[in-house]
Amino acid sequence: MQNKEFSIRHKLINMAMANEYNTEELVQAHVLLRNQIFAFINSGSLRCAVQLGIPDVIHSHGKPMALSELVAALPIKQSKAHGIHRLMRVLVHSGFFAEQEEGYVLTLASRLLLKDEPLSVRAYALMAFHPAMVKPWSVMSDWFQNDDTAPFYTAELKNFWEYNAEETSFGDLFNAAMANDSKFIVYLMMKECKAAFEGLSSLVDVGGGTGTVARTIVESFPNMKCTVLDLPHVVANCQGSEKLDFIGGSMFEAIPPANAILLKEILHDWDDETCIKILKKCKEAIPSKEKGGKVIIIDVVLDNQKEDDGFVRAQLFLDTMMLAVLTGKERTRKEWAQLFYEAGFSHHKITRALGIKSVIEAYP
Ligand SMILES: C[S@@+](CC[C@H](N)C(=O)[O-])C[C@H]1O[C@@H](n2cnc3c(N)ncnc32)[C@H](O)[C@@H]1O
Repeated sequence: MQNKEFSIRHKLINMAMANEYNTEELVQAHVLLRNQIFAFINSGSLRCAVQLGIPDVIHSHGKPMALSELVAALPIKQSKAHGIHRLMRVLVHSGFFAEQEEGYVLTLASRLLLKDEPLSVRAYALMAFHPAMVKPWSVMSDWFQNDDTAPFYTAELKNFWEYNAEETSFGDLFNAAMANDSKFIVYLMMKECKAAFEGLSSLVDVGGGTGTVARTIVESFPNMKCTVLDLPHVVANCQGSEKLDFIGGSMFEAIPPANAILLKEILHDWDDETCIKILKKCKEAIPSKEKGGKVIIIDVVLDNQKEDDGFVRAQLFLDTMMLAVLTGKERTRKEWAQLFYEAGFSHHKITRALGIKSVIEAYP
C-alpha cells in the first residue's frame, strides 16, 4: 500500500514538474548553478598557474609554447604532466590564455600576471585565493548567527589588521596586492584625473600602505610633499626621501596637517560610524575650502546596477569581500552623500574614471 502511495505521489510530482519547467530553461538554470557553484575553480586554477610561474614561462619562450615545452619548463613532477594540459584547458576557456596551432600564448589578462609587468596584478591573484581569504566564506553562515564583527574574525579569532601584523608572510602579500592595485589606479589617475591633485603643496596618504601612490604623486607633482601614514608594521621598512615621509601610527589617533588628505580604499574597509570618525579627523587636518583644503577618496561608487555586467559584478564581489573580511562596504551615491553630511563636509564631487572605482573630492 505504502509503495503504491509513493509511486502515485512520485507520478504527481513528475507531472507537476513537467508542467512547470521548460526543459531548456531547467537545463540553463542547472548550468548556471553548476558554473557558479564551481566558480572558485577559476580563482584556484589562476593562483596555481601564477604559483607555477606559467605566465612568465610562456612569456620568456617568446613564441607560442607547445604543451610539451611548457611541461618541460615548469618546476613540476613529470608524472603530473597530464594535469598541466587540463589546467591550461580551463584557463584558455576562461580567456586567461589563448591557444594557437603552435601552442599557448598570453592574452592581455595573463600579461597582467607577469612578474615584471608594471601593472601586474600577480600579488593580488595570489592574495585573493590565499587560504586566509577563503576561510571566512566557510564560516559566513555561522557569523550571521553569532556576535563576531566579521566572518574573518570567526575564522581566525582576530581581526584582519591584527592577523596581517602577526602573520607577516600574509601581511607582506596583502601589502604587495594593495601595491598592485595602486599601480593600476595611479596609472589611470594620472591619465584621467590628474587635476584633482593640481595646486596642492602637501598631501597625507592615510592608510597609504607601502607608498606606491605617494611615490608616483611626488614624481608627478614636483612642488608637492607627501606623507604616508599607516600602521607601524606596514611602513617599518619603507624608505622615504626629501619629498616623501612615512609615519607609523593610527589614523584614529592623529593625522598630520596637510593641504589635502588621500583615502584610497580606506573608507570601504569600515562601517559608517567609523568612517564618520575618520572623515572628521581628516577635516581637522586640512585647511578651509577657501584655502584649498579637501579630502580625495578613491573607492567604489555603486551607482548604476544596469551598467556593464562585468563592472557591476566586480563591484559587488568587492562589497561582499568587505562583508567577509572587514566591517566595511561599498557605497551608493546616496550613502556617500550621507557620510559627508554627517562628517560636516559642505559638498563633494564624484568622477568615475578608474575602472570600477571613482575619485571623490570632499570639501570642508
Ligand atoms: C585596503 S588597504 C589600502 C592601502 C592603500 N591605500 C592602497 O590603496 O593601496 C587599507 C590600509 O589601511 C591601513 N590601516 C588599517 N588600520 C589603520 C589605522 N588604524 N591607521 C592607519 N592605517 C590603517 C592598512 O594597514 C592598509 O594598508
